[in-house]
Amino acid sequence: MNGKGGTGKTTIAALITARLAAEGKTSILAIDADPNSCFADALGVHDAQTIVGICEDISRHMDTIPSGMTKDRFIEMRVQESLAEADAFDLLVMGRPEGPGCYCYVNSLLRDIIGRITKNYDFVIIDNAAGMEHISRRTTGQISRLVLVSDYSVAGVRSTKKIYDLAMDLKIKIGSAYLIVNRVSGPLSVLKSDIEKTGLEVAGEVPYSKELVRWSVSNKSIFEFKSKAVQHEIERIVDKLTEK
Ligand SMILES: Nc1ncnc2c1ncn2[C@@H]1O[C@H](COP(=O)(O)OP(=O)(O)OP(=O)(O)O)[C@@H](O)[C@H]1O
Ligand SMILES: [Mg+2]
Repeated sequence: MNGKGGTGKTTIAALITARLAAEGKTSILAIDADPNSCFADALGVHDAQTIVGICEDISRHMDTIPSGMTKDRFIEMRVQESLAEADAFDLLVMGRPEGPGCYCYVNSLLRDIIGRITKNYDFVIIDNAAGMEHISRRTTGQISRLVLVSDYSVAGVRSTKKIYDLAMDLKIKIGSAYLIVNRVSGPLSVLKSDIEKTGLEVAGEVPYSKELVRWSVSNKSIFEFKSKAVQHEIERIVDKLTEK
């Protein structure tokens, strides 16, 4: 999941996770790759260890690294052990690195770990930080489905085009790329020409939802959220994203 800030990436990533789980597809790894994110909270996990936390802990206690093991390998082992296992999904949280150097280190670690751990799952859903950071640093490696979320505006749709163009320029391996327009409160036809220019396939349009607004102030997990209009559209989106 990627897109401009505040467009609904985290919410939609959580809704997709819940939908897959409801379909009985429970080999899911959810990755919270946004240092400021609340993907874990949206999924109802509030006490997950973070990769940054594990790195810091090991750096403070280098003597705990078993002899013959590299620091990176030990971090990876601890990350594997820390995977927060809920009934329907496992969860990996990046956390917030302190300095820019640390940010690069954790990002490249995340990329390596993602590359290996993800092989154990049928579905890996990565909630990325807003904008192009992850794409430009290529932190997410290969992407089978790039899902760009826009709000219901020309500016939103144009910014998804910028992100997608950058991904193409960097020759990042992407299976398919999709656009989801979120908080839709009118016809999509008014955005038609801008949507066409993105070159993205529309995976769906999630309506503006008062239930989602209420949910966001409720401290409930997405598994407790109910709205026919939203969930019906998420069902269609999941069908589309998993059809090929
Ligand atoms: N379809 C919708 N209708 C109404 N409110 C929505 C809808 N989608 C998301 N929201 C609300 O908009 C807010 C921002 O959503 P969210 O946190 O998912 O965006 P984001 O793109 O992940 O933001 P960030 O860039 O900060 O990570 C949340 O309060 C969420 O509940
Ligand atoms: Mg978010």
